Amino acid sequence: MTKITIKVFSKGHDLNHSGAELFDQVARDAVSLRGRFICALSGGGTPMALYSLLAQSPYHESLPWENMCFFWGDERCVPPADPGSNYYQARQALLAQVPVLEKNIFRARGELSPQLAAEDYARQLNSCADPGLDWPRFDMVLLGLGADGHTASLFPGSQETHGISTVAVTANYQDRPANRVTLTPDVINSARNVVFLVIGVEKAEALVATVTGTREPVRLPAQRIMPADARLWWLVDQAAASRLPESIAGIEIQRL
Ligand code: 6PG
Repeated sequence: MTKITIKVFSKGHDLNHSGAELFDQVARDAVSLRGRFICALSGGGTPMALYSLLAQSPYHESLPWENMCFFWGDERCVPPADPGSNYYQARQALLAQVPVLEKNIFRARGELSPQLAAEDYARQLNSCADPGLDWPRFDMVLLGLGADGHTASLFPGSQETHGISTVAVTANYQDRPANRVTLTPDVINSARNVVFLVIGVEKAEALVATVTGTREPVRLPAQRIMPADARLWWLVDQAAASRLPESIAGIEIQRL
């Protein structure tokens, strides 16, 4: 049974610190219980402050970096040194600053065509698969939310998929690279912890529609994220939460 919590922060600073504490706790627990922590990072601008925090003290010292494995929820099909690459952005803000092992960084190869990159990424996921799955059961998946309701590279109007781990996608959003590779909802929904980071009033409509609206997973792909047995966290700022009602059935709301 999944427990859903929305934490509404009056200060962005507190949101990022809360995200860092959660990441730290889950990572240390996973390593002590199972010997590894395996996560999927998010792209977009929102998680950058969190990545920078994790690169600093106390997390730089407390996290078990050598037992941590990094994938991404999605990747843009650009070379790994391109500033538009999700891998590149996370590498700059976090991975280049900490003693993570190169062999534990699993990036989608954005320099390939979307189809080849999706196939290659599926093979990498399979190389870390948990029993009964063709992919790892992620300890944590970080996600963003688009103003149009997308998450990872699951965009409005895209086909729902079943039983596969990756999909090649072409979608225009803002001025970002259109060709992409994404994890599928099946992979994200098998995770132990899923954390959405949502900041800004431009996300308010998408957030309220995703968590309180009628189920429309084709129009609102973030609604496809429904883990069966996990903790699902929404760490949001007041602006993004401005359309949320006081209470939502089945969801704990904490106003901080
Ligand atoms: C990407 C993403 C995408 C992102 C959202 C939110 O590669 O673009 O992973 O799903 O998380 O578009 O992006 P912002 O945080 O920049 O608003």
